[in-house]
Amino acid sequence: MEIISMRQAEDFLDQEVIVKAWITNKRSSGKIAFLQLRDGQVYFQGIVLKNEVGEEVFELVKTLGQESSVELQGIVQADDRSNLGYELLIKSIKIIGESHEYPITPKEHGTDFLMDHRHLWLRSSKQHAIMQVRNEIIRATYQFFNDRSFIKIDPPILTGSAPEGTTELFHTKYFDEDAYLSQSGQLYMEAAAMAFGNVFSFGPTFRAEKSKTRRHLIEFWMMEPEMAYTDHEASLKVQEEYVAFLVRSVIDNCRLALETLERDINQLEKYCQLPYPRIEYTDAVKLLQDNGFDDIEWGEDFGSPHETFIANQNDQPVFIINWPKSIKPFYMKINPDNPETVLCADMIAPEGYGEIIGGSQRIDDYQTLAENIHKYGLDPEVYAWYLDLRQYGSVPHSGFGLGLERAVAWIAGIEHIREASPFPRLLNRLYP
Ligand code: 4AD
Ligand code: MG
Repeated sequence: MEIISMRQAEDFLDQEVIVKAWITNKRSSGKIAFLQLRDGQVYFQGIVLKNEVGEEVFELVKTLGQESSVELQGIVQADDRSNLGYELLIKSIKIIGESHEYPITPKEHGTDFLMDHRHLWLRSSKQHAIMQVRNEIIRATYQFFNDRSFIKIDPPILTGSAPEGTTELFHTKYFDEDAYLSQSGQLYMEAAAMAFGNVFSFGPTFRAEKSKTRRHLIEFWMMEPEMAYTDHEASLKVQEEYVAFLVRSVIDNCRLALETLERDINQLEKYCQLPYPRIEYTDAVKLLQDNGFDDIEWGEDFGSPHETFIANQNDQPVFIINWPKSIKPFYMKINPDNPETVLCADMIAPEGYGEIIGGSQRIDDYQTLAENIHKYGLDPEVYAWYLDLRQYGSVPHSGFGLGLERAVAWIAGIEHIREASPFPRLLNRLYP
């Protein structure tokens, strides 16, 4: 007899199979018991009939606690009422591991309680659905970049440099030296682009940001493509094609997960349409001022109300392009049409999810970069290798970073970014 996941139910219709599962809930009346089950891949219903399994097993089933693990033998049946479309008519049950007084019950729990039990909370159907979306975004990322002959390069996590400014660094000792956990692999990806043309990374990054918002994690994963012989315009095209591809892939491959999350597919479909609108930073400031935001001046960074207002002008992600150089990192190339600004863009997701991508064209000229390293007060010794890239066959190049958990939160349509990470690192939370 085959051991299957109920995900494969369609291929085993009316056949007797073995399924290894956990009980999430149950109810019984008289001669019939309904078990809500999960086998890790899908959630499904199992039916136990007293006259099929016998009095003894039937009584035993009634005593099984939530999250007991069981090996089931039964027949796969069609069931139109469930999302899955199939259920299991159980013939026999073997108890693998008992579970008593499982802390997370079907009633409502507070967020702190759930976060303290994150190791168990992950088993719930909503968390399962979110992780499916996350997994699909990762899978689609590899597909998108592999299809375009980008090679995956892994930048280091322990570094001496700070691409995105020195205020949010996690400091650690590296034997006798000072080191930091990587904020971004970008600088290394630039070296890789000069070696391999088109590259991308996907790995953990760290920001010691003392912010407690629904968009910030201390540890998050970032996709960072970097492209040689590519100007910012061409990079923007890659960015929108990439994001549209992610949304498309989730729609096509995560049907059950999106149903569980009650995500409106029609809304997601709109995000597959290209191109995405663009607005110059300068025009965005005017738009905000004209609409009663008197707290914003040219030269200031946007907060989430500003981002959300601009995003709400459209039903698609929007690029805010050409930001003031004074509020952006040292490596961005000056915009020749307006030298107070740099060739960069933030992609803002709709529905208030905020910035999901930051990207720019990089300075490719030795002199300008050397001056900026000085101006920004960075240690020239630490960045000597980075400057080298401008000395030996420098070319125009651009890249960007997409925050995985921000993308997951947006596409899955969840309230808070903490649920987009299996074990989120938040301000004041290192447990579990
Ligand atoms: O805009 P950021 O800081 O850009 C960079 O790090 C560039 N070096 C990327 C590059 O050009 N290669 O971060 C990029 C993205 C943001 O748009 C956001 O999606 C995500 O990373 N991000 C965060 N996600 C969760 N929590 C945080 N604290 C985040 N900070 C940035
Ligand atoms: Mg940014």
